[in-house]
Amino acid sequence: MLTCQKSDFALPVGLHYLNCAYMAPLAHRVRASGIAGIDRRATPQLIGPRDFFEESDLVRCLFSRIINASDPNRIAIVPSVSYGLATVARNVHAGAGDNIVVLEEQFPSNVYSWRRLCAERGLALRTVAAPPRREGGRAAEWNARVLTAIDRRTAVVALPQVHWTDGTLFDLESIGQRARECHALFVVDGTQSVGAFPFDVQRIQPDALICAGYKWLLGPYSTGLAYYGPVFDDGTPLEEGWIARRNSDVFADLVRYRDAYRGAAVRYDVGERSNFTLLPMLATALELVLQWTVPAIHEYCRTLTVDLTQRLRERGYWIEEDAWRGAHLFGVRPPDAHGAALASRLEARRITVSLRGDAIRVSPHLYNDAEDVMALLDALVQ
Ligand SMILES: Cc1ncc(COP(=O)(O)O)c(C=O)c1O
Repeated sequence: MLTCQKSDFALPVGLHYLNCAYMAPLAHRVRASGIAGIDRRATPQLIGPRDFFEESDLVRCLFSRIINASDPNRIAIVPSVSYGLATVARNVHAGAGDNIVVLEEQFPSNVYSWRRLCAERGLALRTVAAPPRREGGRAAEWNARVLTAIDRRTAVVALPQVHWTDGTLFDLESIGQRARECHALFVVDGTQSVGAFPFDVQRIQPDALICAGYKWLLGPYSTGLAYYGPVFDDGTPLEEGWIARRNSDVFADLVRYRDAYRGAAVRYDVGERSNFTLLPMLATALELVLQWTVPAIHEYCRTLTVDLTQRLRERGYWIEEDAWRGAHLFGVRPPDAHGAALASRLEARRITVSLRGDAIRVSPHLYNDAEDVMALLDALVQ
């Protein structure tokens, strides 16, 4: 059982930061890696050809351990989720009459690529609506609706593991199985879960899993990681950079142009992926996640908030059933519309959460403690 790790982070005393779903604070060690990276970059003679490859490969190895992927070369380094998904969209083979399945109010980066593909090729975008909220939760029915929406004309099922607004959990094993039965690509945005909620690529078997690095992976902004399965092995990347080509580590030979790419998903790396500041930060962040372990992070968040959620429910707040939501990210919906008064109560107590639609999104991590949760409870039930 983990204890609070507040002292590993640089959050100001008195701030109740319950908003990792917005952006993780940098751990001291991650920040130090960034500063060391800038210092090294100031003196380029310290950067050798191997540095273009070894740090990237380390990041691939660390991330593949977090998601239980057996081959680190299945991981591409991307700058954003939209980039990782654009790569998928570029490699979808589908045409008029086919469809793409997404969720209502899904994060826009996991919608716009599909809207474009649909518009260009005559596909239908099937948005699976959330059922009305009801006592006991609605997620089971929402999941059932997703399964029903997938059919033989489905080209892509593009979902998150938990909904970004309120942490509703999607049963990716069942949905993935249904997608495979229908020969649809199964594409997961893991940004709001991977790092704080267990994800096992060998069990879930996504064709692609894309994660931004700056939330639950605790890394810097403008970094992301994408797993691409075998179906993409011969695909076309968005860019044709030099470093993704076979033998690109032999700098003297770079003008002996080659058609072959480096292994598996490395072809999908963004250009200049060997960022000498951001990659060491990301590597340190992933090491922290691995050291703490994802199940223990999630369990810490659960234990921390179990009393909070019970007390809020007693006061009429609507929260999804525990088994169908993240403990690291969940929406609490007040009995009446919340307004400016709530926002100012939160601000007065120096509580940072996000207001997403009609939900107050609470997203704790290891730097939070009982005081943070008590402050939130106090602000919400006043
Ligand atoms: C579910 C989800 N996906 C992706 C992102 C970020 O997308 P991008 O990297 O394209 O900016 C966010 C940011 O809040 C998110 O919540």
